[in-house]
Amino acid sequence: MLRKLPEKNNALIDFSSNDYLGLARNPKVSEVGARILENEDSAENGATGSRLITGNHGLYTKTEKMLADFHHCASALVFNSGYDANLGFFASVPQRGDVVFYDELIHASIRDGISLGNAQKQKFLHNNLKNLEEKIRKEKSKLLPDAEIYVVTESVFSMDGDSPNLLKMAAICKEYQCNLVVDEAHSVGVLGKTGKGLVPHLGIEKEVFARIVTFGKAIGCHGAAILGSEYLKEYLTNFARSFIYTTGLPPHSLANIQAAHQQMANSDSVIRLQENIGFFKSEIKRMGLGHRFIDSQSAIHCLKMGNVEVAKNASAKLKEAHFDVRAILSPTVPLGEEGLRICLHSFNTKAQMEDLLILLKGLSE
Ligand SMILES: Cc1ncc(COP(=O)(O)O)c(C=O)c1O
Repeated sequence: MLRKLPEKNNALIDFSSNDYLGLARNPKVSEVGARILENEDSAENGATGSRLITGNHGLYTKTEKMLADFHHCASALVFNSGYDANLGFFASVPQRGDVVFYDELIHASIRDGISLGNAQKQKFLHNNLKNLEEKIRKEKSKLLPDAEIYVVTESVFSMDGDSPNLLKMAAICKEYQCNLVVDEAHSVGVLGKTGKGLVPHLGIEKEVFARIVTFGKAIGCHGAAILGSEYLKEYLTNFARSFIYTTGLPPHSLANIQAAHQQMANSDSVIRLQENIGFFKSEIKRMGLGHRFIDSQSAIHCLKMGNVEVAKNASAKLKEAHFDVRAILSPTVPLGEEGLRICLHSFNTKAQMEDLLILLKGLSE
């Protein structure tokens, strides 16, 4: 079955976008962004070149400093998207003779990056740390003494919304001297008191080799950054091809990324989102739907339906009732794992969440 581009329908109640905090539609972000641009005296519509040639606008330095401070790390390097960031990192950092262990449900951008690189790859069972440890132990004895091991996971899995036991994973990585890489695309703006993501929430910043944060989800803009050491930043600037051979972001994108972070810090939207997640979870339980959902602390909640047609029909029925909930189909998820992906937002009301669950209960009976 071929994919088709859907029409955007703003009249529906949004339970499908990644705009978890409503920042993509918040006019204050573009107002503040415009002021930041004015202060920079920047009239360019576009970057005018790659970052290594003419595209390295002064706003890049300020945005990267803001990101490093916000995320408690030594440095941040902005990429044009999360896809580019993962591609650039995994194609260039792990070397021939190294090994990358990745969760079997890892995002396509990470898989593609690993495939472009020269390191060996091995997948481990989803969120299964016993399986990961066994594989590391087995592989380590075969590696040359200077080989590096990378372990990559997502702090919130993009389709199912579940999370690994990151504390335990960090401890395993420490024990076996592995470099832990965490994609925080769906946890920024969602997890932790101030929405910094799972790594700062657990206080394990120093135990993580690199983090990927993206701005197209809760931040409501576009772009991404790799967080890590100064040395990593310098390395990526020299070797990550998806960073080097592309035009930089336009100045207004960088201004809006800064403005969106300010807006997130100055509003209660993260708290409202977390309250909504708590409410949704308690309603799932109250309505006896717990067994149908994958357990999640995040904004993404997945109702498994196990069949393409059932998932598509459920999504269509919800649309008739003005709810925008998307069916997630193979090959985005493995065959037989099809279901509905429900994204919660700070702006969803309790009544909307209740009505949605009542409909879902009817559909899944
Ligand atoms: C876990 C994860 N990493 C990376 C990306 C890519 O980010 P972007 O949309 O900025 O390219 C996504 C987006 O779908 C994602 O879900």
